[in-house]
Amino acid sequence: MTKYPSCAMMLAEVGMEYINNELCLGPLKKALLPLCANYMRPIYVYDLDFISQRYQAMKKALGSTRLFYAVKANPNVEILQHLKKLGAGADVVSLGEIKRVLESGFTVQDIVYSGVGKTRHEITEALKLGIYQINVESLPELERIGIIARELGKKASVVLRLNPDIDIKTHPYIATGLKDNKFGMELSLIPELIQCLQKHTGSIDLVGVSLHLGSMMMEFSGYQEALKTLKTIFVDLQKKFPTLKRFDFGGGVGIFYDRLDLELEESLLRDYAKITLDTLSDLNCELQSEPGRWVVGHCGVLITQVQYIKKTSAKTFVVVDSGMNHLIRPSLYEADHMIRPLVKKSESIKADIVGPICESADFFAKDRTLTSISEGDFVAVMDAGAYGYSMASIYNLQELPLEICI
Ligand code: LLP
Repeated sequence: MTKYPSCAMMLAEVGMEYINNELCLGPLKKALLPLCANYMRPIYVYDLDFISQRYQAMKKALGSTRLFYAVKANPNVEILQHLKKLGAGADVVSLGEIKRVLESGFTVQDIVYSGVGKTRHEITEALKLGIYQINVESLPELERIGIIARELGKKASVVLRLNPDIDIKTHPYIATGLKDNKFGMELSLIPELIQCLQKHTGSIDLVGVSLHLGSMMMEFSGYQEALKTLKTIFVDLQKKFPTLKRFDFGGGVGIFYDRLDLELEESLLRDYAKITLDTLSDLNCELQSEPGRWVVGHCGVLITQVQYIKKTSAKTFVVVDSGMNHLIRPSLYEADHMIRPLVKKSESIKADIVGPICESADFFAKDRTLTSISEGDFVAVMDAGAYGYSMASIYNLQELPLEICI
């Protein structure tokens, strides 16, 4: 495996850059244009060396924490195989994701199963497989797990995902730690959870507590408050449940989409790690985290081809052959992904970059200044490695993009 200097200076120099006017990705500066030689349809390109670098930076920052990669961010098989080789576990949210990670070389002991809607069938299969941990999101789910495990003669290892009602100031659609959110369990529910755990003591081991306050967390004061709250709860619960030994502090560290500043991101990561480790170090427990976006977000781009330059009295539209069907983040969260032509030109234009889908919400960017592009050119929508292909659809019966790992 390639080794990279992990100092911030080195990271600041990698990511993307133009070499001889051609856009290159990742620490090894891989050219993207040659991948379009036989272009048929939009392509997600993922740089595995870039993923190694990000994963190792996170691993280093978080010390002995066990990382369970959040598969929902990008369930590409080669990426999963790669992360398994790097030592990651997998955080999954469906039986589909369980199957995918097992096919990709993870073992049942690598799997943490989260999610608010686990069906009876999914819980049964997970228990039969003997997965490492189930992160429980509601009292009825805990009850359901207790009953199914008893019927199967199994013992489930469960972690209580608690919702401390704390605002991390992210987009409302990706906040998960507020009392209005469907995720986790309110702290006032703890007495009932204890009763339920005591009732099912033969079929459930309480092994941990967890939190996940949301995604795209860029400052950590709310997170620190949540950690402190959960720490007290952990200590109290441990008196009743000596099996309690894991503290899962979630994922959610954000990345910048409007620029590439890996140095600043590394420094934010160090702040996050320091807050986490300082707060939890005296608990003497196993630490776990479930990062998704931070590991893979920058490491993927979506390449699409310009079909038309359409001018109206109000605007110029650059119509490309990919859209909200392949990358929904700009439409859904108003995410500002950078867009770069694969071949750089000198002049510039201001335009909306839009897709072929029959919706006015189908755009990648609005009023964006780009280096001049023409019909047939390729552009890369940057930072599309997380929640890109995994949220893609076949709306309008457009084909899904290709995926290539480099
Ligand atoms: N663990 C749990 C329980 C989660 O719900 C999530 C993300 C993660 C871990 C990983 O979070 P990350 O480190 O990637 O922030 N589609 C949205 C993001 C949704 C995140 C949902 N949960 C987007 O494109 O921004």
